[in-house]
Amino acid sequence: MDPHRSLRTIFVFVIILILSLNNIEIKAQLSPTFYDTTCPNALTTIRTSIRTAVSRQRRMAAFLIRLHFHDCFVQVRFICLGRRDSTTANRVLADSLPRADQDLASLIRDFDAKGLNERDMVALSGSHTIGQSRCVAFRARIYGNVTNTDANFASTRRRNCPENRGNGDGNLAPLDLVTPNSFDNNYFRNLVQRRGLLQSDQVLFNGGSTDSIVLEYSNNHRRFASDFAAAMVKMGEIEPRTGANGVIRTTCSVAN
Ligand code: HEM
Repeated sequence: MDPHRSLRTIFVFVIILILSLNNIEIKAQLSPTFYDTTCPNALTTIRTSIRTAVSRQRRMAAFLIRLHFHDCFVQVRFICLGRRDSTTANRVLADSLPRADQDLASLIRDFDAKGLNERDMVALSGSHTIGQSRCVAFRARIYGNVTNTDANFASTRRRNCPENRGNGDGNLAPLDLVTPNSFDNNYFRNLVQRRGLLQSDQVLFNGGSTDSIVLEYSNNHRRFASDFAAAMVKMGEIEPRTGANGVIRTTCSVAN
C-alpha cells in the first residue's frame, strides 16, 4: 500500500477515536463507518501500514500531517471515510498556501477564509512540534529582526544556515529544537522563549491576540492535544467532495 495514502487514513482512525470519545457530530455523507461493509479490515490494514512506514522513516509522520494541511487548504481530498479525490490539481491555489514570512494578521485572514478561527490556527501550527524546515524558509528570521528572537537560538541556527541566498538553502533544522520527534507541547514553550524557527511560528507569540492561546498550550498539553484533534477534523471538513462530486483516484498523486 502507498504509505502516503495509508497515513492519510490513520487520521481517519484517530478521528473515529476522538469522535467516539467526544460525541462530536460528523457531517452527513462522510462517516467513520463508510467502509464497514465494503472493506471491513481497512482501518486495521491502514494502521499497520502507517506504523511500518513511520518506523522505517520517522519523518514520514511529519510529511503526512503536512500533506493533510496542504490538501485541505488547496483541494480537499482526504480524511473522513467516503471523501473523494479531486479531478484536478491546482497550481494557483497551491501557491496560495500560507508562507513562513507572513505576519499574524495575514495568517489569521487566510485561516479565517477557510473557516478556521485563531484557536484552530494556533492548535494546528502546533504540528510544527515535529518535522523539519529548510534554511531557505527560516533564514530571514535568524538573520533579521532580533527583538523577537532568542540570541543563542539564532546563533545556533546560523551555524548550519549561511546568510547568503543560494548557500545551504536546503540545510535542515528541526521545527521544535527540544523534542523534534515527539508530538508534545514543546513547540509552544519554544515560542514563549522566542525560539520559534519560522517567522510564521513566532508571530503567534509576539504581543498579539494569539499570545494567550500559546501560553495556555505551553502550560497544558492535554488541552493542546484535544484542540489539535478537533481542529484537524474541522480542517478535514473544508469543502469535502462526496458522492458524484469528485472521483476515486487510481494513482493517488495524479488526477485520473
Ligand atoms: C500557519 C501557517 C503555516 C505556515 C506558514 C507553514 C510553513 C511551513 C514551512 C515553511 C515548513 C518547512 C518546509 C520546508 O522547508 O520544506 C513547514 C513544515 C511543516 N509544516 Fe507547516 N506551516 C503552517 C501550518 C501548518 C499546519 C496547519 C500544519 C498541519 C496541520 C503544518 C504541518 C507541517 C509539518 C508537519 C512540517 C514538517 C514537514 C517535514 O518535516 O518535512 N504546518 N511548514
